[in-house]
Amino acid sequence: MRLDTAQLLKRFFFCERSLLVSEAAWIPSIASLGVKIGLARFIWQSSETAAALRNRVFELRFPSRLLEEQGADHALIEVFGAVKESPSAPAFLLCVARVLLPALRDSYREYLEASDTIADGPTHRFLSLALTEKDEQVKAFEEWAQSALALQPELRESAMAWIRVVADRLSQVGGVGVAPSPSAEVAAPLPGSKPHSVPARPARDPRFWACRFYWPDIVDPAYPYGEGIQLQLRSAISHVNEVWAIEAGGVMLSAFADVLPWEWIHNAARWTYDESRHCRMGYERLMAWGLDPAEIPLGTYIYESASGQDPIYRLGMLFFFETKNIRHKPARAQLFHTYGDVVSEHDMDFDWADETMHTGYGKHWLKELLAVRGEDPAAYDQVRERCEKLVRDYVGTATAQEVADIKKAAATLLAKAGRPA
Ligand SMILES: [Fe+2]
Ligand SMILES: [Fe+2]
Repeated sequence: MRLDTAQLLKRFFFCERSLLVSEAAWIPSIASLGVKIGLARFIWQSSETAAALRNRVFELRFPSRLLEEQGADHALIEVFGAVKESPSAPAFLLCVARVLLPALRDSYREYLEASDTIADGPTHRFLSLALTEKDEQVKAFEEWAQSALALQPELRESAMAWIRVVADRLSQVGGVGVAPSPSAEVAAPLPGSKPHSVPARPARDPRFWACRFYWPDIVDPAYPYGEGIQLQLRSAISHVNEVWAIEAGGVMLSAFADVLPWEWIHNAARWTYDESRHCRMGYERLMAWGLDPAEIPLGTYIYESASGQDPIYRLGMLFFFETKNIRHKPARAQLFHTYGDVVSEHDMDFDWADETMHTGYGKHWLKELLAVRGEDPAAYDQVRERCEKLVRDYVGTATAQEVADIKKAAATLLAKAGRPA
């Protein structure tokens, strides 16, 4: 019946919402660049499914007030949120791969098999897509967990213990499923959990050259941004270094998930995914030039400039860099065109469209956040200015050695990129 259906779809909505918030919180703590990029994409998929679920619940004339409450599914949804407190990155990945995603996947399948394709046709369309995505997500998380455990085999035992704890709790609260909710009690924190904290420094993929400042012009204003191959390389390096933006996206999404309305999560998920595409543009470009990841600088300065600060500055950093750089992008796309570099032109052109959307997000959500805090929404520009200062101060800590090292690294890359691959 209509209201039972709405009740189930509401449950799925809260599970997806909670899962994606936990995934977002883990982005800065996981080293692999491929996993950060993949997580951003899956967060976005979950947010799209959740948005479709939420709309469908409204269409079914579910008392809309109740969509703001988890209701009888509260204990279940707490389990999806509890993976944020996983004891280690491999434990988190394994638990999502083996417990949470399979539970959602199986429930979607059951729902699709049991429900009416005529009366509930609109749900069938998006939930079938969600089921396909869940299959892909299960496979990817399993591979990521195995790769992470291969690097840190000493964590295997605790990761296995953690998934047993989460699986037991999930079955105690009745699982996801398609049955009426058993209204389980919310229990104490899961044994073996570790309180979540945002790392002061982001985990970095060991395949790359780890540094704080990823190009000489960041620490030396006299160093030219360049033209020709220098501009092409600089642009690809900027793109791959948007890894900081994926991390900022994940941190801010989870930090304000319970403070701002659902649309925040939906926008922040898309934003994080877009940044992961920009990062991947740079990565693919550098690989196509035949460059060695060990020589590619992956910096941390923007992330670290906002560490230890109010998380509003994560949102502020994205807004600051987007508004600062956007005016250069159409001109750069045009220059790439004159060089006959179609790939760089194409990347910059799409990037520009995404960033235009993001500056809108930034202004809107900074104002909303200030308003929710009882502060003046017009002060959003002061957040931006403070970000500029935080970055300037942090750049001021660059050592002579760091400046010399990045100049050397840039010269090596320029010499290699200038030769045909
Ligand atoms: Fe970007
Ligand atoms: Fe952006």
